[in-house]
Amino acid sequence: MGFAGKDLILLSELGTDDIDSILDRGQYWSEEHNFRISNTAKVTDNPQVCNLFFESSTRTRFSFELAAKKLGYHILNFEPSTSSTQKGETMYDTLKTLEAMGVNVAIIRTKEENILHEVAPKLELGIINAGAGANEHPTQALLDLLTIRQNFDTVQGLKIAIIGDVRYSRVANSNIVAHTKYGNEILIAGPEFLLPEKNSELMTDNIRVTSVDEAIAEADVVMMLRVQRERHPRKSDFDWDSKGGKNDYFQKYGLTLERFAKMKEKSIIMHPAPFNRGIEIADEIVEDEKSMIFRQVRNGVAVRMAILERALERI
Ligand code: CP
Repeated sequence: MGFAGKDLILLSELGTDDIDSILDRGQYWSEEHNFRISNTAKVTDNPQVCNLFFESSTRTRFSFELAAKKLGYHILNFEPSTSSTQKGETMYDTLKTLEAMGVNVAIIRTKEENILHEVAPKLELGIINAGAGANEHPTQALLDLLTIRQNFDTVQGLKIAIIGDVRYSRVANSNIVAHTKYGNEILIAGPEFLLPEKNSELMTDNIRVTSVDEAIAEADVVMMLRVQRERHPRKSDFDWDSKGGKNDYFQKYGLTLERFAKMKEKSIIMHPAPFNRGIEIADEIVEDEKSMIFRQVRNGVAVRMAILERALERI
């Protein structure tokens, strides 16, 4: 098997063959034996990778760190607050500096949506998008696909519900791109101001806007999203602390126990996390056997091992 690609910036830039190769390799790393022994991986020339997170993260940052360590790579953690970006050094100059020190791959989370495409062609080191503004989060969509494939033995012929803050979610964008590539039907539901605009290029023919109740009852995969309040241009009318009031987001758009009871027998629940219990999803459902939330986190390490290998063309 061979697969390679210096950069991973947008899922839309990958073909399904490339995605399938990453999933195959991610599946290999996710299998219990390999997941456990992979920290003894032998490498001959010790690649160096660097995490640069300009926005907060728990899952993506630490799963890339664990993935690198399991592969036997050196991992550096760049801290924006104590770096020379505080003195005005640009993203490009920062990366060029790391490249000069021998860093082979930079894993970047940033608010800026276009910067990765601007700098990647000018650099030898590989760039991996670990979440860029409200644009894309391709490695999240890849670990989501692996989780779906492990449940259904396929990523095709499925009905995918994406519920909540679709408009400001980079996870939703990457998943819509992915499921469109595989020809899946996508149901989206949520408050109108949190759905993509009707003329958005994301709104292809395979996407249907439905009620939350319909989406949850019909879907094979029920993907709930975090409400990205920090990205909303204005304060909404929702009363986030009211439980059962007329502007209660959870009762209107959340995965309540009543909606959960109407899910299909074999359907699964996903959430990229961090999740808000009692806002997007009922507390009791988070760790139910239908919920893949912590399986997604675990698969994040395996898929990111495959993504680092791809960036380093090591297979
Ligand atoms: N899902 C996700 O990207 O989580 P973090 O923000 O914790 O990395």
